[in-house]
Amino acid sequence: MLVSGNEILQKAHKEHYGVGAFNFVNFEMLNAIFSAADEAKSPIIAQTSEGAIKYLGIDMIKAMIDVMAKRYPHIPVALHLDHGTSFESCKKAIDSGYTSVMIDASHHCFEENLALTSQVVEYAHSKGVSVEAELGRLMGIEDNISVDEKDAVLVNPEEAQEFVAKSKVDYLAPAIGTSHGAFKFKGEPKLDFERLQEVKHRTNIPLVLHGASAIPDYVRDAFLSTGGDLKGSKGVPFEFLKEAVRGGINKVNTDTDLRIAFMAEVRKVANNDPTQFDLRKFFTPAMEAMKKVMVERMQILGSAGKI
Ligand code: G3H
Ligand code: 13P
Ligand code: ZN
Repeated sequence: MLVSGNEILQKAHKEHYGVGAFNFVNFEMLNAIFSAADEAKSPIIAQTSEGAIKYLGIDMIKAMIDVMAKRYPHIPVALHLDHGTSFESCKKAIDSGYTSVMIDASHHCFEENLALTSQVVEYAHSKGVSVEAELGRLMGIEDNISVDEKDAVLVNPEEAQEFVAKSKVDYLAPAIGTSHGAFKFKGEPKLDFERLQEVKHRTNIPLVLHGASAIPDYVRDAFLSTGGDLKGSKGVPFEFLKEAVRGGINKVNTDTDLRIAFMAEVRKVANNDPTQFDLRKFFTPAMEAMKKVMVERMQILGSAGKI
């Protein structure tokens, strides 16, 4: 059933678990997301970037979600706009039937971020839609980074408290050292869990981890064994994901892991049979591989068995 983001994340916040927010850009990814949720008995957040909306068309996205929600009526699902860049973009998603939107004004100054987020919150709440905002910048923390540099990049817990109180935003993505994509850390993985706990303590709302792909060895190996190149890639270790959930993370944004798992299978089929051109022969194992990654992630985050 299509529900608001708040309905899914308030429960996760109260019961201390994380919900996978999985990006999709086609039917196959969305199908795998629902199929994983069905197997793990987990709620889900299915999310699209503005780029995915441009690629698929917002009407197609809503139609696909409606069909899947009808096919799996027992699965609570929120349709979320990932990294909305303007009020207009969020409004378009809300008016098209999204049940959750992110306004990402984290690159603006505090006051501008607050003003834009508040504008989105006012409109979204009048339509029963939940809102995510971001504070700080998404980037890895290097081992030798100074305290000053860290403070400039990562979320400021006092600001987070003020931001949440004034904007009335439903959930917040605090920058604690993750980044998007397959190359998250140069040295040892490092996240600022102390800062995370402080933000949770001061805001007491659901928190969001962006850049949460783990790139597990079996996913990397599957890609490499087909001749793929992921030199220098490093994800967020499973132990860190668990610690992040213990520290108050409830929405766990995951895209890169799905892309790599999917493309490893496509590459494998192409390598094994150069004469193959039936799309279904590529996409069926690709959906299975993504599903496996997501079922495992739901178990790690604690959302498995929650429906
Ligand atoms: O946060 C970004 C997501 O991974 C989606 O990226 O803009 O390439 O669709 P995209
Ligand atoms: P990954 O690149 O780690 O999968 O992060 C995705 C994300 O944060 C989408 O908003
Ligand atoms: Zn993100």
